[in-house]
Amino acid sequence: MYRTNTCGELTMKNVGQQVTLCGWLQRSRDLGGMTFVDLRDRYGITQLAFNMDTNPALCEQARRLGREYVIQATGTVIERASKNSKIPTGDIEIEVSQLTVLNESKTPPFTIEDNSDGGDDIRMKYRYLDIRRSPVRRNLELRHRMAMLVRNYLSNLDFLEIETPMLIKSTPEGARDFVVPSRMNPGEFYALPQSPQQYKQLLMVAGMDRYFQIVRCFRDEDLRADRQPEFTQIDCEMSFVHQEDILNTFEGLAKHLFHELKGLDFTQFPRITWHDAMRLYGSDKPDIRFGMRFVELNVVAKGAGFALFDNAELVVGINAEGCAEYTRKQLDALTDFVKKPQVGAGGLVYIKYNTDGTFKSSVDKFFSQDSLQLFAQQFNAHPGDLMLILCGPAMKTRVQLSALRLEMASRLGLRNPDVYAPLWVVDFPLLEWDEETQRYYAMHHPFTAPKPEDESFLDDPSRWGDIRANAYDIVINGVEVGGGSIRIHDRTLQNKMFHTLGFTDQSAAAQFGFLMDAFTYGAPPHAGLAFGFDRLCSLFGGADSIRDFIAFPKNNSGRDVMSGSPAPISQEQLDELHIALTPQN
Ligand code: AMO
Repeated sequence: MYRTNTCGELTMKNVGQQVTLCGWLQRSRDLGGMTFVDLRDRYGITQLAFNMDTNPALCEQARRLGREYVIQATGTVIERASKNSKIPTGDIEIEVSQLTVLNESKTPPFTIEDNSDGGDDIRMKYRYLDIRRSPVRRNLELRHRMAMLVRNYLSNLDFLEIETPMLIKSTPEGARDFVVPSRMNPGEFYALPQSPQQYKQLLMVAGMDRYFQIVRCFRDEDLRADRQPEFTQIDCEMSFVHQEDILNTFEGLAKHLFHELKGLDFTQFPRITWHDAMRLYGSDKPDIRFGMRFVELNVVAKGAGFALFDNAELVVGINAEGCAEYTRKQLDALTDFVKKPQVGAGGLVYIKYNTDGTFKSSVDKFFSQDSLQLFAQQFNAHPGDLMLILCGPAMKTRVQLSALRLEMASRLGLRNPDVYAPLWVVDFPLLEWDEETQRYYAMHHPFTAPKPEDESFLDDPSRWGDIRANAYDIVINGVEVGGGSIRIHDRTLQNKMFHTLGFTDQSAAAQFGFLMDAFTYGAPPHAGLAFGFDRLCSLFGGADSIRDFIAFPKNNSGRDVMSGSPAPISQEQLDELHIALTPQN
């Protein structure tokens, strides 16, 4: 037997027992008469004690051990002289009588402790060492626990977990596909799934009624903290359901996770239409842990001779409560923030509502104290508040103000990761105009159903932008954690949708023919949703980056720096795949 116990379980209850532990040497302290070793495994750390007086040979052996050596130690559990209340095993130590080195280790390139001295890059290169650190290990444990909770919850509701293929056909909508050449079919390629969307719809045609899958998805898109080229979805689909059924089912799943993992119990999640989310927060994933809703100001801002306001489609602002004391420097920093290329505003107008009831603004030349009072009324501001205003084309300005709203909230400490504010955003637009290609794209995907009351607009291209979809997102703390829609199950409507998206009969048949064929054999009304599992894990783990919750993530250039992928392949492999590379300059 390699071990009788793990390094995380022995306490005062075990004093006097003879035990054998295995693990990695995290750190050793040589105090002359005594040598102490912290032995670590997945379950915790246990202190090993070696006594120079009673067993000098063994103590000498312990002193020669290096960091991260894999060792086996047998000894007696004894009470510690100086206890460590920070760890569960901190009251005891093992008085070692026998020590075996199971494997040596090179000195690791960074310290493998909770607070490592290793930078991001080096820890990614040696990710298997990074995972030995308890913060990373705990994230993976949380991920496992969440996966189990999800599986049990859905299984209890009669959902079946069904695997769908990883080598599928490339589709043009959405992000770019990762493609895989087919050796047996020269010049032809598979694509890795961006999601199992079409397969889960086929499973509904196949009568599976309730499907889910914790599944890897692949998207060749620009990476950010909350995006990886391969990520995991909790992908779900249901038959014979209305939007209400879907929202309730998956709200139930989210509540279950909150209850089990955080001890939090929510009543109904708030719901907001996409249109209101944009109007009030400038974002389709509003962070509602705090207020600072947008206030539209056209009525009070226009007509005073201030050209920027007069010429703007929209003047809109937020009220930062209690910030009237902001200094020139702080206001300049906010102005610089909104002018950053990533935000893109021309400038920032501020109005301070001083505690003595007077106003001081950056537009005092154009607005009297009485006029500024009207702004304050519009904002429902109080003495001591700071009003921050942007203007310009409506949608663009809203998005810019959304960035400022989040920035202010961060500065004011209102984005507490221990506070959770979930909500549904519903009634997304069906179609989205793309300036570059001058055409409409499906905002969600081409199988999303329009709201029945807006369906007739499909016949009038001038109304396409107004069509609302039966599509919904679940948002927590400003993060889109999931999204889905009611699907089109009627072939005529699906054809109309394809035409709207610029497909010809032939191109639609070439891309989606199998799905369309399936729909002629009795497709049930169906709908679904997919959670971004990595994002859900990072939210519950209180972190911003999903990388911390993925065992072996890619870096921001989509590279796995540990294995060195992607990498060139040999000429033989290229030949076999019938691929000729054009030389790069
Ligand atoms: P959607 O494209 O909205 O919907 O994706 C669902 C959820 O997956 C997460 N997500 C990502 N997470 C990490 N890295 C990425 N690159 C990434 N892209 C998306 C998000 C998102 O909300 N088939 C539909 C779902 C459906 O209609 O049922 C779909 O894939 O949290």
